[in-house]
Amino acid sequence: VSPSVLACDFAHMADEIQKVTQGGADYIHLDVMDGNFVPNISFGPAVIKAIRPYTDVPFDVHLMVERPSRYFQAYLDAGADNITFHLEAEPYIAPALDQIRKAGCSASLSIKPGTEAEAVFPYLDKLYMVLVMTVEPGFGGQAFLEHQLDTIRQVRALIERYNPSCRLEVDGGINAKTAAAVVAAGADTLVAGSAVYGAAEPAAAIAALRGD
Ligand code: DX5
Ligand code: ZN
Repeated sequence: VSPSVLACDFAHMADEIQKVTQGGADYIHLDVMDGNFVPNISFGPAVIKAIRPYTDVPFDVHLMVERPSRYFQAYLDAGADNITFHLEAEPYIAPALDQIRKAGCSASLSIKPGTEAEAVFPYLDKLYMVLVMTVEPGFGGQAFLEHQLDTIRQVRALIERYNPSCRLEVDGGINAKTAAAVVAAGADTLVAGSAVYGAAEPAAAIAALRGD
């Protein structure tokens, strides 16, 4: 489970990440938005660097940014453990993945709802995760897109065949109900913003997402 801080209280980010650390988060999901690839703007490397000392949980950085390779170094320096970028946003995907991996960081690719599962195939051997978006990227709190269950199944089949150690992460509209459906379809890593930070008890919400 990778709680998304996009849904947290930005005035108390350090406390908010400690809350999900104690609640059993496996990653901290950090949504970077540039107002270009997506209509919304969130935060950048300076904020990520500032909160890095407050938890030992790995930082799962999700770049929703046009031409993300321009900014990799800043996120590596800020303390990213994984960098995920959008396949739709970067023209030179393989070299971009190599740039991240050479820095000792894991590299992952994300696809939006309009992008076919097969698009990740040429890069699978380099990937730590494939992130299948289950909403249009840009905002927290949107409704889960059912038809993405097919994409999850197709990506799972590709992973099983070509790189079984690759993780399959899903992001958008994930709550205790949709979690069961995405896990059944083949997801193993769940991003959740509002389901965790909107809950009275983040620890209980994380446990519910795990199916405990
Ligand atoms: C959406 C972001 C998500 C967002 C998910 O573009 O990538 O990570 O925080 O929010 P929820 O879980 O509320 O749908
Ligand atoms: Zn995200």
